[in-house]
Amino acid sequence: SRKIVVTGAASGIGAATVALIRARGDVAIGVDLRDVEVIADLSTPAGRSEAVAKILEATDGQIDGLITCAGLSNNSTMQVNVNFFGTTELVEGLLPAITASGGKVALVASISATQPSDAATVEALLAGDEEAAVEAAGKVERVQAIYPSTKFALVQWMRRNAGTPAFAGAGVPMNAIAPGVVLSPMTDALIADPKMKAIMDAAVPSPLGGYASAAEIGQALLWLVAAENTKMTGQIIFVDSGAEVTLRPADH
Ligand code: NAI
Repeated sequence: SRKIVVTGAASGIGAATVALIRARGDVAIGVDLRDVEVIADLSTPAGRSEAVAKILEATDGQIDGLITCAGLSNNSTMQVNVNFFGTTELVEGLLPAITASGGKVALVASISATQPSDAATVEALLAGDEEAAVEAAGKVERVQAIYPSTKFALVQWMRRNAGTPAFAGAGVPMNAIAPGVVLSPMTDALIADPKMKAIMDAAVPSPLGGYASAAEIGQALLWLVAAENTKMTGQIIFVDSGAEVTLRPADH
């Protein structure tokens, strides 16, 4: 059977994705701070190294898919550590095993990647300088800009790497799903607060109707790492009820 590694597996999109994998009879290896196969803290370099070692042990080096759902949206600088480096360093650390397995990578971005971000934070993230990125994020006045900065930098990092010899040249597709609003513990409080909900609905329109379930995002992520995906790489797929196409119809 295929083995799929899922970060952020204890909750929300990650947990729903794990359930879908198991329902199909494949093997899911969850990575999170609690309640999963691989307990590790993706916010630190040491935690990421530990995660890579434990994942290689748990999978015997067979990684058919890596799906990175671990993330935070709490307006803290920790978003730099988890959303960006907790993804990129894990992908890089597992890439030899993914390549040897003929595996595939699927990242979780966000519609927020299209929203205003902080240039200094993005620059430090893309330079791979974790300390400088945390420092830059710490200076951001509008703290709501940190989250889009981490997600924008993440998709830029993906775009820079997907076509290179290490990824496409080695037969490893890497794509991202960019959700709009998803029903999960991350958004529960926002949706429950009528004022926050109104702000969110204005920023993220959903002409197709309604918020996504975590499983709907999981289905899209699973296709990206499925055996059937042999030709798509470097793409950002918006699964957002039509938000992105409504907000910027001329872009692609
Ligand atoms: P969630 O809060 O339900 O799940 C996130 C998981 O990441 C949690 O289980 C948490 O423990 C884990 N995590 C956080 N810090 C970690 C660390 N240091 N080490 C290991 N694991 C850690 O949130 P949800 O909604 O499932 O989000 C999953 C991904 O989807 C995130 O990257 C989020 O930014 C993204 N997203 C979510 C949207 C939404 O509306 N819920 C919209 C767009 C993107």
